[in-house]
Amino acid sequence: MTIQITTDVPYLDPTIPTPQRVTDLVGRMTLAEKVGQMMQFDARDGLEHIVLDRHAGSILHTSPAKVLRAAELTDESRLRIPLIVGEDCIHGHSFWEGATIFPTQLGMAATWDAELVERVARATAVEVAATGIHWTFSPVLCIARDLRWGRVDETFGEDPYLIGELAAAMVRGYQGNGLGDRTAILATAKHFAGYSETQGGRDASEADISQRKLRSWFLPPFERVARAGCATFMIGYQTTDGVPATLNNWLLNDVLRGEWGYEGTLITDWDNVGRMVWEQKVQPDHMHAAAAAILAGNDMVMTTPDFFQGALDAVEQGLLDESDLDRAITRILTLKFDLGLFENPRLPDPAVIESVMAAPEHTSLNLDVARRSLVLLRNDGSLPLQENRALRIAVVGPLADDAQTQLGDWAGSSGQVDWLDNGQPRAQITTVLDGLRALVPADWTVTHAEGADILTLADDPAGSHFPDGQPRPKVVVPAEVDEAKIAEAVAAAAQADVVVAVVGDRIELVGEGRSTATLELIGSQRALLEALAATGTPLVIVLLASKPLVLPDAVRDASLVWVANPGMEGGRAIAELLLGNIEPSGRLPISFARHVGQQPTYYNQIRGQHGDRYADLTQSPAYAFGEGLSYTTVDYDEATIVTPEVTAADTVRATIRLRNSGSRSAHEIVQVYVRDSVTSASWADKELKAYRHVDLAPGETTIVELGLPVADCSIINAAGQRVVEPGAFELLIGPSSRDEVLHAVGFNVSA
Ligand code: NOJ
Repeated sequence: MTIQITTDVPYLDPTIPTPQRVTDLVGRMTLAEKVGQMMQFDARDGLEHIVLDRHAGSILHTSPAKVLRAAELTDESRLRIPLIVGEDCIHGHSFWEGATIFPTQLGMAATWDAELVERVARATAVEVAATGIHWTFSPVLCIARDLRWGRVDETFGEDPYLIGELAAAMVRGYQGNGLGDRTAILATAKHFAGYSETQGGRDASEADISQRKLRSWFLPPFERVARAGCATFMIGYQTTDGVPATLNNWLLNDVLRGEWGYEGTLITDWDNVGRMVWEQKVQPDHMHAAAAAILAGNDMVMTTPDFFQGALDAVEQGLLDESDLDRAITRILTLKFDLGLFENPRLPDPAVIESVMAAPEHTSLNLDVARRSLVLLRNDGSLPLQENRALRIAVVGPLADDAQTQLGDWAGSSGQVDWLDNGQPRAQITTVLDGLRALVPADWTVTHAEGADILTLADDPAGSHFPDGQPRPKVVVPAEVDEAKIAEAVAAAAQADVVVAVVGDRIELVGEGRSTATLELIGSQRALLEALAATGTPLVIVLLASKPLVLPDAVRDASLVWVANPGMEGGRAIAELLLGNIEPSGRLPISFARHVGQQPTYYNQIRGQHGDRYADLTQSPAYAFGEGLSYTTVDYDEATIVTPEVTAADTVRATIRLRNSGSRSAHEIVQVYVRDSVTSASWADKELKAYRHVDLAPGETTIVELGLPVADCSIINAAGQRVVEPGAFELLIGPSSRDEVLHAVGFNVSA
């Protein structure tokens, strides 16, 4: 059957209100077209079949050439329903050759700067929208608590308040002035919810998490972006209490749709529907899995090709009524009409691509974010590298000049797509070695030695593919110590005034299905650091690591800068920091453990345990949430409560005095935690509730005024309700989450 495509076909008439266009179109669709409309396919699997036989509603992982081909095929299809094209553009336009690749989400989180993160998302949206992609699967709102998990780098860290602030900013940046805006892309809040609460860090394992715990810490960031209009939500892989998130009626319907009134579109994660059959084994076949997923309220099904036949069979067998699909179809089509895709499919626009891709203002923003993402954790006095004499710097380590690793996961050659084998263009990336070579004064010298290897790969003994046909990642074989390489690095160190050692992890140790059992440096990196420490030359470690790692005892006193994968401008930013051209200002969005067995080390743990240490180790983390040094010192004193008596409707106000007692400028992040003295149910000892960025010139003193709604000083009681419980509270104000540096002032909430 063919239809005449003229404007007397109501769904093609842009002057008709969207609900009527949707009703008209849904009325014309066959069952097969409806099922296909609910499906998102991997564009690598053959476009003709996907678009013409399966009536795909959406595609992802689409190379630039395939976006155009897919649109041509859509034009050949019966109803010419445009595709929504999705991609993981999660720290820049990840898989577009020559796009701007920013620091990873964890790196961005270290800036604690929502406005900056919003600008990153806006710049990303401008680059992405120009290339025919309408939907990014970002941001990640998971709370990272187990550092072994391979996806810590994709998160904003461990704190729900910081995550909510930054995620809301990112959604604003992506969605711009609304979906009608040609530069807007759909944002996705993922992975709903509790996915990160793994067993032993194992990816996508059962999340053993109660509804109360979800409500307490895991859901608030999601609620915030749901209410702020995040267009889509992605449902996580995990099961909880025996139920896959895909079928979690309480989560999807009672909470998200019900309590929060969310009207956006839900997409499953990759093959969630199929996994219920072949992996979790909670559905006997694809017919039952498809019926269950539709009835639970999922709108779009990501990459489960068997969903097509499964859903058709489910209708034929009476497990579903055809009208059960209409809710999902209506949502997806509404999104397409709201984006205006029927009038303008937003295909790649070469002229716009040329003008916006890696535009100078995006590169300069990228440099700013990279600078702000650097966290100085320890300074033995050797930083910044400023002397009144020419310095000889030995730059060593396997990551000193590894451009692609610097970009991190979800970028270029990180493994998710098949058209960028060589990664992003080398010329666009500044490594630490490049940065130092470019920025040191003319009479300084920079030498380089790799010093160590990290790993090689071997086939997984369990086979090359998972049962669903997905390739299994190769397994990591730590590199053996190469004495010659170490000797070369030691010789370079011996001839230098300072060693900059760039060590960390590589993509093979990062990402989905790539959790690590250890947090120690892999391969010969430990031996390298130990050998360098033994030379006695001052040592600066640049830990270029996707997530917090543990360093060997031998370098306990060395200067240390942590850099999450810092993106294309990272090497320049690091060089500027080491040379003192900029001030260190990043703060940890996640705590660093001293030992893998210390997990979990997040700061906002629940009160109550015997003692406060292990028999063989303190429980105190190596570096705590919120920590980060400057090149100057900032003293906090005179914390004062302005409102000692408040009600739940008030704002609690306090002040604190800050003084820059050093000789360089400071960019300080004043953190405000709340402690509820006695709670009706066990609760975190303290929680971040506000923070302020404060610039201080050398010698400057300022009084910082702080305020937060008492309504935020809430807990989830044993009945699962969020309440402010009258009684005594403390505001804890200071430069990090460590009790030792926090200034407490009390206030009382009256009933
Ligand atoms: C699976 C990942 O869990 C998710 O974060 C991503 O967006 C999809 N794959 C699509 O690539």
